[in-house]
Amino acid sequence: MTGANEALLRVDGLEVHFTAGRGKLVRAVNGVTFDLLPGETLGLVGESGCGKSTLGRALLRLGPITGGHVRFDGSDVASGTAASIERLRRETAMIFQDPYNALNPRHTIGAALAEVLLVQGKVPKGEVKARVVALMEMVGLSPDLADRRPAALSGGQCQRAGIARALAVEPKLIVADECVAALDVSIQAQIINLMIELKARMKLALIFIAHDLGVVRRLSDRVAVMYLGRIVEIGRTEDVFGQPRHPYTRALMRAIPEIDPDRGLPQDPLGGEPPSPLDLPAGCAFHPRCPDVMPVCTRNPVPASRPVGACAVACHLYDDQRTDHHHSSLQQPRETIHV
Ligand SMILES: Nc1ncnc2c1ncn2[C@@H]1O[C@H](COP(=O)(O)OP(=O)(O)O)[C@@H](O)[C@H]1O
Ligand SMILES: [Mg+2]
Repeated sequence: MTGANEALLRVDGLEVHFTAGRGKLVRAVNGVTFDLLPGETLGLVGESGCGKSTLGRALLRLGPITGGHVRFDGSDVASGTAASIERLRRETAMIFQDPYNALNPRHTIGAALAEVLLVQGKVPKGEVKARVVALMEMVGLSPDLADRRPAALSGGQCQRAGIARALAVEPKLIVADECVAALDVSIQAQIINLMIELKARMKLALIFIAHDLGVVRRLSDRVAVMYLGRIVEIGRTEDVFGQPRHPYTRALMRAIPEIDPDRGLPQDPLGGEPPSPLDLPAGCAFHPRCPDVMPVCTRNPVPASRPVGACAVACHLYDDQRTDHHHSSLQQPRETIHV
C-alpha cells in the first residue's frame, strides 16, 4: 500500500496522559511527531521515565492514546476503529524486555508460535508445524525446543522465542522495547546480531527502544532523543552521534567516554534535579538542567522542533539559524558539563 518513499508510520502531535496520585496529570507523551519509512529502523533513547515505553505501546495501540494522530500504512489507528486495530494486530508486533513475562508460561514454545499462526490465518492448518520449525530455525533455536515451556529455556532462548513469535505475524513494523536489557552481555550481542540479520532479510521497519547508545548506534538508521515526553532531537544516526545539537543529546553523549559501544547510559548522566513528568517547568522542560539555558527557555511556549543541519532539534539555541556562524562553539560538544 505504501510507496517506496511514503511513510509506513506517520505520528502527529501524539499525546498520552495518565492521572497519577491526587489527580495529578502525567504527560508521559507530550506532542510527539515523526515519520517512519518502510524497512527503516528508528532508535528511541532517553533516560528512564521519559515516555519511551508509553510511546511504543501507543503506536501499536497496546496502550492508551489521549490525543493526536497515528497513521499506520494509511489508516488512522488513533481513532481506534475495530478495523484499524485488527489491521495493526495483523501487521505489527512488539518485543518486550522480559521474555519470560511476555510468553504464556503454560504453553510450550511450539504451541505459542502455532497459536499466532492459526489466529493470523496466514498459513494453512496443514503447514503450521513446518512453519513453526522454520520460525525457530530463523531465530537460531533448535526445533527440539518446541516442546519446552518458557521456564525450561534460558533468557537468550526465551528472547529468541519472543522474536520468533513477533516474526510469525510477518509484520511490517516491530516495536522492540529494551529487548536485550535483561540479558547477559554476551547474549545481548547475539540477539542484536540476530535483529540486524532479520531486519535486513525481512525488510521490516523497527522502532528500537534502548538506553544503550552503543546498541542503538549499531542498529538504527535514525535516532530520536526523548526528554520528558517530547522528541528533542531526531536525525540520521551518523548526524546525531557525530554532531549532537541539543544540549541534552550532547550531555548523553558526553557522559559516555568515547561513546564506548559496550556501555549504556549512566543512571544520572546530568546531575541536577531528576526530571519529573508531574511538574513540568514552564518553557523548555530541560531548562533546569541545561548548561546553555537562556531567559527565553524558561518561558512558554516550548521550543518548536526545527531543522538544524540535517537533523530536527527543539531548542532555542537554534531560534535564529544565522547565529550559528557567530557561535560556532555551539556546533562542537563543550567540555564544561558536570556529569
Ligand atoms: N499506567 C500508568 N499510569 C500512570 N503513570 C504511568 C503509567 N505508565 C507510565 N506512566 C508514567 O509515564 C512516564 C513515562 O513512563 P515510561 O513510558 O515507562 O518511560 P520509559 O519507558 O522511558 O522509562 C513515567 O513518569 C511513568 O511513571
Ligand atoms: Mg520503558
